[in-house]
Amino acid sequence: MKITKICCIGAGYVGGPTMAVIAQKCPHIQVTVVDLNEERIAAWNDADLSNIPIYEPGLDAIVGEARGRNLFFSTDVDKAIHEAQIIFISVNTPTKTYGKGKGMAADLKYIELCSRQIARVAKDNKIVVEKSTLPVRTAEAIKSILDNTGNGVQFQILSNPEFLAEGTAVEDLLNPDRILIGGDTTAEGQEAIQALVDVYSNWVATDKILTTNVWSSELSKLTANAFLAQRISSINAMSELCEKTGANVNEVAKAIGMDSRIGPKFLKASVGFGGSCFQKDILNLVYIAKSYGLYQVADYWEQVIIMNDHQKRRFSNTIVRTLYNTVSDKKIAFLGWAFKKDTNDTRESAAIYVADDLINEHANIAVYDPKVSNKKIMDDLNYLETRSVEDNNSSVKSYSDPYEACQDAHAIAVLTEWDEFKTYDWQRIYDSMKKPAFIFDGRNLLNAKDLETIGFVYQGVGS
Ligand code: UDX
Ligand code: ADP
Repeated sequence: MKITKICCIGAGYVGGPTMAVIAQKCPHIQVTVVDLNEERIAAWNDADLSNIPIYEPGLDAIVGEARGRNLFFSTDVDKAIHEAQIIFISVNTPTKTYGKGKGMAADLKYIELCSRQIARVAKDNKIVVEKSTLPVRTAEAIKSILDNTGNGVQFQILSNPEFLAEGTAVEDLLNPDRILIGGDTTAEGQEAIQALVDVYSNWVATDKILTTNVWSSELSKLTANAFLAQRISSINAMSELCEKTGANVNEVAKAIGMDSRIGPKFLKASVGFGGSCFQKDILNLVYIAKSYGLYQVADYWEQVIIMNDHQKRRFSNTIVRTLYNTVSDKKIAFLGWAFKKDTNDTRESAAIYVADDLINEHANIAVYDPKVSNKKIMDDLNYLETRSVEDNNSSVKSYSDPYEACQDAHAIAVLTEWDEFKTYDWQRIYDSMKKPAFIFDGRNLLNAKDLETIGFVYQGVGS
């Protein structure tokens, strides 16, 4: 089958960048990204490319090149579904906040709505691709909806999980470690897989394109995220032991990372991992394991989350303890709010939980993040529903100038590893702060020796 039209439902962190790169690399394919959110689509269409809704290094240039040529952003979901041969589903799948599986299972409401819409609109055969991270066996649910409410149209469901990491999305999409495509073993299934392989092989070497059955593909995505998160919780567990014993976790990470069987990546001790995937996917895995009665498997993976929660709490406790057991009415400056550098995404960012703990202790939080808006910061805190919106407003203020955020602060907490923090005039910051001036470096980003020479009391993670 020759693919000429692709549609993607969901213009978020996954759908937007992925489709932009497909469009750039396949000028012969018309790619339409649709979303119900009119504001988001308007932002993707903004003439000023610095206003596109997702910040990713290099993304604006790619959108600038393809948009209007073969890349389109629209709210007309029906039209895009109707025209496309391949439909990607990239809608959000948050953790359920109600009912059975609350706090653990993925909420498939949006996936189901999408599937029903595809079933209603499609008039000819379609390949439907799950791009969102989904619990194993979701493809089966999508298929069942499509087959039973469609009008004689044949659907092939593929699982094609996205492995991009935020902040490096463009680079990851242009040079992926692998592309994974799961589909049916039937002849029609294999034909659908081949159609998608042909799209990717416009820029990805064929030996990097793996094809599997649907369930292997779905489970591989959850497994990859669980393994990555597990490495972080493992090194974070060691960071607490290092603090007690006088070992330095950076040195330990370097020493073990040189073992080629372990490898150096994903061994940075931190205030805890965030992001929309790790926690959600592990909770999902735990839920699936429990639902099959595999309690030891479930407990094993749940511990990764328990450790991560402990690490965030431990960081805020260290701040309170070090500041003479009280942060009441003290100004604590937060450098960074995003869950990692080079993104404006704040989902599950450790900063949210550390701030929440410190506000409970009556601290005043001053936030500076180069890419996160004040509205997002307040929305993140209000979403927790720990206290009233008014109380959050009076406890947290965000700044567009880091020096102002730090002025008169009792302590600075580094929550995101933005490169620019390393280039600041730290003497100037020190001079403007209350003394003793503390730095709690939740990312082990700054140079401890230099800061101590200036006069700061420096505390990293795991040393
Ligand atoms: C992750 C996976 O890496 C990606 O393959 C998948 O598609 C989506 O989930 P993402 O959440 O965007 O990507 O970012 P990632 O780089 O994995 O970082 C996740 C969190 O772990 C961040 O908060 C980061 O700061 C933290 N982290 C990462 C550490 O604390 N230490 C590390 O060594 C690495
Ligand atoms: P991700 O990180 O998985 O990309 P996001 O939340 O950034 O998640 O993006 C998902 C997008 O999907 C949102 O912009 C949301 O408005 C959109 N969406 C959810 N359900 C539908 C639907 N039925 N039709 C169109 N768009 C949808």
